[in-house]
Amino acid sequence: MDLTDRGRQMQKAQQKGERSALGPRGRGLFGRLLDGIRGGPTLRREAVSIAVASGKGGTGKSFLATSLAVLLHRRGLRTTLVDCDFGLACDHLLLGVKPTVTLQQLLGGQATLDQVLLTSPCGPRLLPGASGVRRMAAPSDRELLAFARELGELAARDDVLVLDLGAGIAPATVLTMLGADWIVLVTQPEIAALVDAYAVIKCVAQLNERARFLVVTNRVGTPGRGELAFQRLTEVARQHVGVVLHYLGEIVDDAAVTQHRLGQLPLVATEPEAATSRCLQRLTDRLEVLCGGLSPREVAGDQGIEARFKQHRLFL
Ligand SMILES: Nc1ncnc2c1ncn2[C@@H]1O[C@H](COP(=O)(O)OP(=O)(O)OP(=O)(O)O)[C@@H](O)[C@H]1O
Ligand SMILES: [Mg+2]
Repeated sequence: MDLTDRGRQMQKAQQKGERSALGPRGRGLFGRLLDGIRGGPTLRREAVSIAVASGKGGTGKSFLATSLAVLLHRRGLRTTLVDCDFGLACDHLLLGVKPTVTLQQLLGGQATLDQVLLTSPCGPRLLPGASGVRRMAAPSDRELLAFARELGELAARDDVLVLDLGAGIAPATVLTMLGADWIVLVTQPEIAALVDAYAVIKCVAQLNERARFLVVTNRVGTPGRGELAFQRLTEVARQHVGVVLHYLGEIVDDAAVTQHRLGQLPLVATEPEAATSRCLQRLTDRLEVLCGGLSPREVAGDQGIEARFKQHRLFL
């Protein structure tokens, strides 16, 4: 069975409330007893959540996450990009918006979700993060709970949530990966980035053996080298941690990306024929296929993103 089938099967199972994303014990005895009394769990509509992560910094997560949000919006999906690079957020600059309040005020209770959300000129909404706020780099437990609640609220309204993470394995970053439906791991065809990508896989898979990884190789110089790098990574992940990875595709290295000036809109919107834009289009097509569609699905209340966040946070 390939991942497409698995994605579809999981969606169907979730629609029927058959299977917990948290594993067999995830829903707990109490939840199952209540289901028995009520005649089944209450289902609610929820967006597909995609965490964009990496081990090494600077692999191109924010470039990919902002581009993906624009492309998904253009496909008619209600999309929100959440800047989860706690303390070092930058997606607002890439999307050309100027936030006055951010995730910091939202999690501190000084602003509401609707006050913080911005609509970017290219269409997708942005939940901006705080930049240069050291305290936000390590959110407190209360802030993490508030974050889980706000993600649950967003997921109830939207079709897709794209979560742009900071590099590495800080607790809040790992938690966000564990809470998401899919983890898009961005790496590069060089040893340091591949070694760090493996470290993330190992770390997340130890906490959730069902975590689903899709790999993107960015800044590829020679066509096909991205897939070769993926093959090395997937072999190591399979052998050492028993995790099966899936290849989403490669993005070429193009100076046009680095030359992009502050205030300009994403290349994928302004230059759809650019080499990186064509790669991103293909990648989005494949994402849709591998995820078995990107429409919202029905999930039991205790299996949604908010519940997954709350559960996993206890194990960090
Ligand atoms: N395909 C590409 N071709 C050329 N330059 C790229 C490409 N992708 C990303 N870059 C450049 O690499 C740099 C890092 O990209 P980006 O900020 O998206 O990485 P990141 O993984 O989000 O970094 P961080 O870990 O700091 O959050 C930026 O200067 C960006 O313009
Ligand atoms: Mg970034």
